[in-house]
Amino acid sequence: MSHSLDLLLDAALARRAPLLADNRTDALRLVHGDADGLPGLVIERYGDVLVAQLHEGRLAVGEDTLRPAIENLRRRLGLRAVYKKSFVRDRGHVAPDLTEVHADPTPWLGDPVEPQVTVRENGLRFVVRPYEGFAVGLFLEHRENRRRVRELAAGRRVLNCFSYTGGFSVAAAAGGAVVVHSVDLSRRYLEWCKANFATNGIDPADHLFFRSDVFEFYKRATRQKRRYDLIILDPPTFSRLRRPDRTFILADELERLVGGGVTLLDPGGMLLLAANDRRLAMTRLEEAVAAGAHPRESSIIERPSLPVDFPGDPHYSKTVIARID
Ligand SMILES: C[S@@+](CC[C@H](N)C(=O)[O-])C[C@H]1O[C@@H](n2cnc3c(N)ncnc32)[C@H](O)[C@@H]1O
Repeated sequence: MSHSLDLLLDAALARRAPLLADNRTDALRLVHGDADGLPGLVIERYGDVLVAQLHEGRLAVGEDTLRPAIENLRRRLGLRAVYKKSFVRDRGHVAPDLTEVHADPTPWLGDPVEPQVTVRENGLRFVVRPYEGFAVGLFLEHRENRRRVRELAAGRRVLNCFSYTGGFSVAAAAGGAVVVHSVDLSRRYLEWCKANFATNGIDPADHLFFRSDVFEFYKRATRQKRRYDLIILDPPTFSRLRRPDRTFILADELERLVGGGVTLLDPGGMLLLAANDRRLAMTRLEEAVAAGAHPRESSIIERPSLPVDFPGDPHYSKTVIARID
């Protein structure tokens, strides 16, 4: 099995050869589970570091078989470390020892790296933290969407909701947005977002950061008569708010989310809506745009596909870009 595993990893690298050869980008997904013939296994490269996700109950091979093959891969690519993320079936009940493992600077393979590494993406730079939980700070499936936002942002007032570490915010600012407003519930992620601005030589003081629930922000922005020309909505599938105690379920809130954003968009404004919920079909996103924009005219102007390192699984994440008149 280990020989065929090496062959599958070789094939996965070959499929991504153009991306691996692109020195403007060193953050990419090297293995995308079933699509690369490796169910339950995801491997991402972040600069000098690999992050391997092992999905419980879906892996076709045991860890003992995986380990030498992934160590080979690390050596071949000349990288420093591999951090392992174990995904249990029920994310709501992460055992405490697993939480600790994901915060451990000691890697699964190779030598420890510093708590944050800086990666390149289409010439922009992003801070990634390989051992601070499940997510390391950059969702790679949005690489081309960030590039598109960078192209669309020139001269526009941009609002990035659910901004997380500010991937879209940085892209917009780098593309020449007049101003970028980033909204997120988490103070920590907003600080990370500012660090990403600074890492790209963009002064965060020229932009605004709001620690807020998105719906609360909509109300406040409406009161303050804020207007935008480009809004990015890339929400989580599910989240829990503490004050007020409430759950956010994307499938239930999609139209309201779009509707609130549209009220802040000037005529001719653009909306990028993304969802990584498999159950939400592309058509549902399109319907939500039309319903949320009503009675204003809306048209879907782009349906970006996933980047080449996310092959064979179009339901993984969906994006539409709309124009609202
Ligand atoms: C999956 S991440 C979003 C990814 C992000 N758009 C990107 O470009 O990488 C989810 C983010 O939404 C934030 N969040 C969740 N619920 C929220 C809410 N109701 N209002 C504002 N932010 C929220 C979380 O703190 C987290 O940073």
